[in-house]
Amino acid sequence: MAEIVLIKDLKNHVDQEVQIRGWMYNKRGSGKIYFLQLRDGSGVVQGIVFQGDADEETFKKAEELTMESSLKVTGKVSAHPKKEGVFELQISKIDIVQIPDEDYPISKKEHGTDFLLNNRHLWLRSPKQRAIQVVRNTIINGIYEYFALNDFIKIDSPILTPNACEGTTELFEINYFDEDTAYLSQSGQLYLEAAIFSVGRCFDFGPVFRAEKSKTRRHLTEFWMMDAEAAFVEHEENMKIQEELICHVVERVLRENLAELEVLERDIEPLKKIKAPFIRKTHAEVVEELQGMGSDIQPNHDLGGDDETILTKKYDKPIFVEKYPAEVKAFYMKRDPENSNVALCSDLLAPEGYGEIIGGSQREDDYQTLLDRINEHNLPVEPFQWYLDLRKYGSVPHSGFGVGLERLTGWICGIHHIRETIPFPRTIKRLTP
Ligand code: 4AD
Ligand code: MG
Repeated sequence: MAEIVLIKDLKNHVDQEVQIRGWMYNKRGSGKIYFLQLRDGSGVVQGIVFQGDADEETFKKAEELTMESSLKVTGKVSAHPKKEGVFELQISKIDIVQIPDEDYPISKKEHGTDFLLNNRHLWLRSPKQRAIQVVRNTIINGIYEYFALNDFIKIDSPILTPNACEGTTELFEINYFDEDTAYLSQSGQLYLEAAIFSVGRCFDFGPVFRAEKSKTRRHLTEFWMMDAEAAFVEHEENMKIQEELICHVVERVLRENLAELEVLERDIEPLKKIKAPFIRKTHAEVVEELQGMGSDIQPNHDLGGDDETILTKKYDKPIFVEKYPAEVKAFYMKRDPENSNVALCSDLLAPEGYGEIIGGSQREDDYQTLLDRINEHNLPVEPFQWYLDLRKYGSVPHSGFGVGLERLTGWICGIHHIRETIPFPRTIKRLTP
């Protein structure tokens, strides 16, 4: 029996008889010859069924195949007569696994976004959607690799939590048995802050939830976040770690996913320019720059989505926007000792109009100051008592940040709306499939 191989490995089997297993996503030809476009998850290949070469039964099966039929195909691997590095399969045998009873709903013609999202379970099969998931996987691996190489330990933070981490208006609330309310985690940060006292440096990577009423191309209600936290790291070094991490991930994607980036028609020149150091600007500088570009942003405002878009279109490198007004940021951020109105924080904005991909800061490490902040933010003290405790027993300066996986994937893939970067997007209006 012919050896079963993956399409991506066909290059190692030229002139051999092999079997591939997968789906037919398109077919051309008739009469004497069929060209079958085949995919198996690892790649795509053209299979050729020539009436003279294949037996009558095989040829008849080729005739019957419809879009998304599943099958096993045996044939001889040959180099494409014209295209270098491309291989074909001269088919001698077809085993049909299933021929769909109905026409496949997604055809080659243009479909509306709603239709595609309603059929997300099928849409995932298309070349572009597969490419996005493959790049996403490389990004995940790249992040794990960076942390393994840099002595960060993975700590899994809980999803069911008694307290908020980010804004309380964006919490998903659930009934937790008798009288307690629990919240779905918005970020594992606070738990990582506890873990640094055990392992020094750590990160988590998991789904987080925000009941955000934002309907923008940058927002999901469920997304994946990688939080990192490190003891004895202050604001400046925190940005350095982020810079290195992003460079590491982009390099790995450029090394492993050129084929996918091509499917996505992603111009890779801007990605090749992603090298440290990134641009650093204070929030105050950015406000002035944006006002000069026509924005109505004020010194005490957070950056709006449009502000991020116009600012980052101007630059070909990521930008750290540092030292936001403390009033627009979370309670846990340490204030700048040189100006107590601003936080020792940074948002990392991706270029080409993408905007924020990372939010990070140095953390308040003084017990009384942190308690005051919790009160100023009208947060209940009791559920934060454990978090306050961390400032009682060997408190140290520390910092961390959170990367939004979908935002990062969207930028690297050059995808406009992040809903395409997660396998099954969740937004205000969408919970299915
Ligand atoms: O800036 P955020 O809210 O920061 C935190 O949650 C911190 N506790 C992280 C930390 O310091 N450990 O969120 C971090 C990142 C953002 O920069 C963005 O990339 C992404 O998470 N993000 C979202 N992605 C998709 N949909 C949403 N609704 C998002 N909200 C934030
Ligand atoms: Mg943020």
